Amino acid sequence: MKLKIAILPGDGIGKEITDQGVKVLEAIATKFKHDITFSYADVGATAIEKTGSPLPDESLEICKKADAVLFGAIGDPKYDNNPDAKIRPEQGLLKLRKGLGLYANIRPIKVYDDLTYKSPLKEKVIKNTDFVVLRELSGGMYYGENKVSEDGLSASDECIYNAKEIDRVAHLAFSMAKQRKKKLTLIDKANMFETSRLWRRRIMLIAKEYPEVTLNYMFVDNASMQMILNPRQFDVILTENLFGDILSEEASAIAGSIGLSASASIGEKMVLFEPIHGAYVKAKGKNIANPLATILSVAMLLEHFELFEEADALKTAVNKSIELQITTPDLNTSQKFSTSDVGTFISEFILDKKNVFTHIENMNLGQSTII
Ligand code: IPM
Ligand code: MG
Repeated sequence: MKLKIAILPGDGIGKEITDQGVKVLEAIATKFKHDITFSYADVGATAIEKTGSPLPDESLEICKKADAVLFGAIGDPKYDNNPDAKIRPEQGLLKLRKGLGLYANIRPIKVYDDLTYKSPLKEKVIKNTDFVVLRELSGGMYYGENKVSEDGLSASDECIYNAKEIDRVAHLAFSMAKQRKKKLTLIDKANMFETSRLWRRRIMLIAKEYPEVTLNYMFVDNASMQMILNPRQFDVILTENLFGDILSEEASAIAGSIGLSASASIGEKMVLFEPIHGAYVKAKGKNIANPLATILSVAMLLEHFELFEEADALKTAVNKSIELQITTPDLNTSQKFSTSDVGTFISEFILDKKNVFTHIENMNLGQSTII
């Protein structure tokens, strides 16, 4: 298959992790004889510094010309700590989502048996957890009108949804549930908000087209507790933009590290894949950031193009790296593998390199006891 991938490293650790994504895609291309090419573009604080814009038109064009986008991370404390900054890195990501028409963000949460000990929750609570948060991505408070009064003493952010936005993501949610455990949970705050009540009315209508899926509802405050008390009760969670942002990050902690959480953003024409974590600017250039969320986002990219054997080869390599603890310090305190070590191990494993283990041993200067 011929694939053109736009790489948008963004800020902080973005370059280090997307480099590993590219490395792994190159290994897949070699092993399975695909023609995968890459084009690069700036976004976020990096783009502001170079061009004054968090998403220059040229970057959006590069994405539109590609078959898929691989995105790193966005954000910089320089802007986080300055509430008066008019131009902000995150605007680049919102503009990109809008510009590419991305309306659904799929965030799978899966607990790896070898990593249950890393979770802050008890093994008996989290074992076999496997659910997906489907976050609406094109509406809600992220795209409503933001206002601040002239005296600067009051402000508002509008939350707005229309039926079309709800319906398209709801259909996706039902079809995902149909292919999984056939359970869909709509998370909202329908005891408070009109937008949530509109969501419920639309979902009730659409549910009639999917009789095999069991639909239930949960208020977001209760859901945030249920996710910790009994995460196994969920299969597909559907929720609006802001609740989805918050709940998916909470959910990623169940699996032990946010460094494992991958995501896919789906549009009518375009697709974008990104780790759900942030730019971790403090770690920039230190080669310590966990590349697995990005690499697992690459697996989602391969699955999107129905390259299932390729995605399986990648996931097997990731499982192996976890099993052998060839992982970055957030997952592994006994050995120190770097971001690029992990990417190299995974790509060499995919390529069946006979020397992959000795290579890793050398990388680790003989500290390893496992291999
Ligand atoms: C995410 C991030 C973004 C969001 C930020 C960086 C704008 O937190 O993708 O979850 O809030 O959507
Ligand atoms: Mg977030």
